[in-house]
Amino acid sequence: MPATHAREGAGKNSSLPLYRPIPCTVDLVQDLTPSERLFRISREDAQPFGHQPGQFVQVSMLGVGEAPISVSSSPTRGPHLDLGIRRAGELTGLMHTALKPGDRVGIRGPFGTCFDVDTMRGQDLVLIAGGCGLAPMRALIQYCEDRRGDFGNVTVLCGARTPQDLLYKDDLAAWMRSPQLDCRCTVDEVPPGQKWTGDVGVITTLIPPLEIVPDRTTAVIVGPPVMYRFVISHLKDKGLDCRRMIVSLERHMKCGVGKCGHCTIEHLYCCLDGPVFRLDQVIGLRGAI
Ligand SMILES: Cc1cc2nc3c(=O)[nH]c(=O)nc-3n(C[C@H](O)[C@H](O)[C@H](O)COP(=O)(O)OP(=O)(O)OC[C@H]3O[C@@H](n4cnc5c(N)ncnc54)[C@H](O)[C@@H]3O)c2cc1C
Ligand code: FES
Repeated sequence: MPATHAREGAGKNSSLPLYRPIPCTVDLVQDLTPSERLFRISREDAQPFGHQPGQFVQVSMLGVGEAPISVSSSPTRGPHLDLGIRRAGELTGLMHTALKPGDRVGIRGPFGTCFDVDTMRGQDLVLIAGGCGLAPMRALIQYCEDRRGDFGNVTVLCGARTPQDLLYKDDLAAWMRSPQLDCRCTVDEVPPGQKWTGDVGVITTLIPPLEIVPDRTTAVIVGPPVMYRFVISHLKDKGLDCRRMIVSLERHMKCGVGKCGHCTIEHLYCCLDGPVFRLDQVIGLRGAI
């Protein structure tokens, strides 16, 4: 059940250039948290980007630079890309302060491996997203909602530091109401002044109560580096093998296409061989998990 290489699409199709940004327009800008915003982007020629859940794109602003950003929307929702972007530095800071609907940005990609929905077909899924991990996971959750008959039970576990830090709160509320998904959400703490009626505790506290049938379950894990080791350990306690766990790893990236070497994990290029890996492909590699 390997992570699929969807990157061939970028090379084969001349409309998805490796090096030349595609001219795009910002359709929508929306606050998600005090430091994260949703940017909905469409190609100026109205064509789809050809992405799969789990892939990333390189977003550029003229004269500033570019940054790798995960796609937060499923291709089943239309030709646009939703990007949930944290204000981190020069480019993302300018996107937050300056970009408004109608403005232009460049997009290279989509790049990297994706969550292999074909090999997940018929499986029960446990989708575990911590913090910013909900950015790429939202694309997979939307895909599962739109192709619900393709999968068995779909469980979504989400965690954030505080209620305010939760991304895509409206989606989370809808997923928790949905009879199609079993969505559970927790926060590490509730600071004074923030409202929260749900669970409090780290995301791993949501795993022990789950009923998992190991030989028909695939788990997908995306979150901050500190989360992986603990989540993996809890899933192993449930009987899940490394080959049934999919992770998405984030590394510093520059080119996004296997040329600069910034993103290596031993012999692997995170931009080409990842960011989505089956756990047994990376578990023994230094610095991977
Ligand atoms: C595959 C992939 C997917 C990503 N998806 C998202 C996403 O969906 N939403 C989002 O907000 N961010 C995402 N990031 C992180 C994002 O790329 C960086 O925050 C961004 O490049 C910062 O650009 P900047 O010019 O604003 O900051 P800079 O001015 O370049 O740097 C600001 C600070 O951010 C740090 N930084 C830059 N890149 C990274 C990185 N990859 N990891 C950790 N720290 C970094 C720098 O070291 C510096 O301290 C992703 C990164 C990768 C590799
Ligand atoms: S980002 Fe340049 S090789 Fe991966």
